[in-house]
Amino acid sequence: MSTHREVSGHYGTGDLLSRLNAALAKDGLDPDHLSVGALAQYDQFHGRGLEATVEVADLVHVTASDHLLDIGSGIGGPARYFANRFGCRVTGIDLTPEFCDVARHFTQRLHLDDRITFEVGDALAMPFANRSFDGAYSMNVSMNIADKGAFYREILRVLKPGGWLVLSEVAKGEGAELDYPAPWARSASTSFLATPEETRRDLLEAGFDIVRLHSTLEETLAAGARARALAERGGKPPRRAAALMDREIAAQAMANSSRGFSEGRIIPIEVLARKPSQVSLGAEHDPA
Ligand SMILES: C[S@@+](CC[C@H](N)C(=O)[O-])C[C@H]1O[C@@H](n2cnc3c(N)ncnc32)[C@H](O)[C@@H]1O
Repeated sequence: MSTHREVSGHYGTGDLLSRLNAALAKDGLDPDHLSVGALAQYDQFHGRGLEATVEVADLVHVTASDHLLDIGSGIGGPARYFANRFGCRVTGIDLTPEFCDVARHFTQRLHLDDRITFEVGDALAMPFANRSFDGAYSMNVSMNIADKGAFYREILRVLKPGGWLVLSEVAKGEGAELDYPAPWARSASTSFLATPEETRRDLLEAGFDIVRLHSTLEETLAAGARARALAERGGKPPRRAAALMDREIAAQAMANSSRGFSEGRIIPIEVLARKPSQVSLGAEHDPA
């Protein structure tokens, strides 16, 4: 099986919308009166959920006239957050057709479909013209992408000069390899983690300037401790996005990743990078 088919097979379970609707009903949410905030428990499919999305958005300046790109947009939670907070346009692209269908469904239900669109596609060959977007972000996606250089060059291509990129990713730490399944991969065959230093190098080689690259391990461990304390008191998990995962592997995948973080085998990182305003004439990957 090709890596792409394996990746989208990992995420697409075939019954996602009905499972989500059932979860919303069980939690007493009226499907006809959803809000971006209420849905955020379910649609932010990355470490620390909405908290991490807010952090990513706080790193950049966005205006209502901006057009943003969400790479690996999942079921659209981060895209709806950005469009709702800033009034901007967002285009999402994702490899998993079922995720794009569910993303469109909830975006229509929240009446944001005039500003947000989702396309099924590969982040390594995006169907967008050079210099299309004012900014781009990608949350918990690069772990599935082997060729990071090609990934970053493709993002650079579609950004306008001076455009920003924020990554919120899981990097390789020290020590033993991670145990699988992980939330993003059933086995090592679709998991491609880079260290923070490799991430820095690959972005620089692609042509980005790096404004900031830092670990969010402390915040991740604190969020995990809060969730465990809540569970011990019999409360509902603060984020129910784990329900997006295949039930057969969800509990083991979450346990493996939280052990990986606490043992330093994996490190959550946030990166703010920028495409230079003046791209040198010889830059091969920015032919526009
Ligand atoms: C853990 S989910 C994160 C979804 C979303 N960014 C979020 O935070 O809610 C990873 C997503 O990356 C997508 N993905 C993985 N490899 C991709 C690729 N080569 N091109 C586009 N999307 C990809 C998957 O289909 C999946 O939706």
